[in-house]
Amino acid sequence: MRVAVIGAGVIGLSTALCLHDRYHSTDRPLEVEIYADTFTPHTTSDGAAGLWQPYVDDKGNTQETLWNKETFDYLLQHINSSESKEMGLFLLSGYNIFTKPVPDPSWKEIVLGFRHLSQNELELFPDYSYGWFNTALILEGKSYLPWLTNRLNLRGVKFFHRKIKSFQELTAEGVDVIINCTGVRAGDLQPDPELCPGRGQVIKVEAPWVKHFIITHKESEIYTTPYIIPGSDTVTLGGIFQLGNWSGENSPRDHQHIWQGCCELMPSLQKAKILYEWSGFRPVRSKVRLEHETVRHGMSQSEVIHNYGHGGFGLTIHWGCAMEAAKLFGKILEGKRLTQPFSANL
Ligand code: FAD
Ligand code: BEZ
Repeated sequence: MRVAVIGAGVIGLSTALCLHDRYHSTDRPLEVEIYADTFTPHTTSDGAAGLWQPYVDDKGNTQETLWNKETFDYLLQHINSSESKEMGLFLLSGYNIFTKPVPDPSWKEIVLGFRHLSQNELELFPDYSYGWFNTALILEGKSYLPWLTNRLNLRGVKFFHRKIKSFQELTAEGVDVIINCTGVRAGDLQPDPELCPGRGQVIKVEAPWVKHFIITHKESEIYTTPYIIPGSDTVTLGGIFQLGNWSGENSPRDHQHIWQGCCELMPSLQKAKILYEWSGFRPVRSKVRLEHETVRHGMSQSEVIHNYGHGGFGLTIHWGCAMEAAKLFGKILEGKRLTQPFSANL
């Protein structure tokens, strides 16, 4: 059985690992291949701050809340393991602050110690009148992607640096199932009017005194409002969110907007050393596309599992989605009557 995963961001690598883990055995080998035209450290997943936090308003999508929870719980199991440093994983606490009271988020029972801010705490943020504090996780793509890659290499998964032009191309080469993890560029393989780039730009600074994340929210949830997120060795300053903007250049105007907003929020940042700047595209969609489709082309057809459209929460939701993709794969296997799932523990 040959499976081709297209994409080597957090979604492609984690889905490949989950599939191999669940369905490969020596008596029933599963050949997993990963095709991508960018690899770590050049994917969107590498540039993200890596904070585990879904959108504040998840539009009542209970399925995504479950995948977010599965990911949080899975990562929490690794938090005290000797692997956590290499994975780029650690606990981080911080603030979400607002200009008016808002309903609690769907994820308040998922994170640790969710509570409302006290008056004393609010005095730290003079322009804001309401807020939450909680402990969440950081999962840094720049470490997690190499960690996933190592594990896949150890399992004999093969990597190909190649741009895929169609699903048919892989089917013609003998691939049985394709897993489409192409993120914001999924529309190149199959038109998807729902998919749109949510351009972001961040400034990475050296500011080791920053120990909490601070995410501000003004009138709308779609933030072009400042955020400050400390990582293992840099602090990420954001937050630009421009729907439909495909410009990959760092914009001086956006730089100014981020810098001014973050320095107003935390004046000590004026003393921070700017290390570099980065722009990337969130794969924005009304909901994650995670489904099996039989794509027909002439006399042949491709079995495709789509797993893309994770917006500004790909690291937050990735493992729940990988497990769901593995379930869908199991159903295809059953349908083909080629084999039975290696583990019934899905
Ligand atoms: P990508 O990482 O973009 O990977 C896509 C892969 O597909 C690449 O390997 C690419 O080469 C490959 N590919 C695409 N088309 C083809 C093709 N035709 N042929 C071959 N290969 C192809 N999320 C969080 O959870 N927490 C955060 O703190 C966070 N911060 C963010 C900050 C910014 C500024 C941005 C822009 C995003 C942030 N995100 C965050 C969102 C997160 O980065 C994305 O949701 C996530 O990276 C999507 O992962 P992906 O694997 O789908 O896409
Ligand atoms: C972002 O998409 O910029 C983002 C995502 C999660 C937490 C903070 C920022």
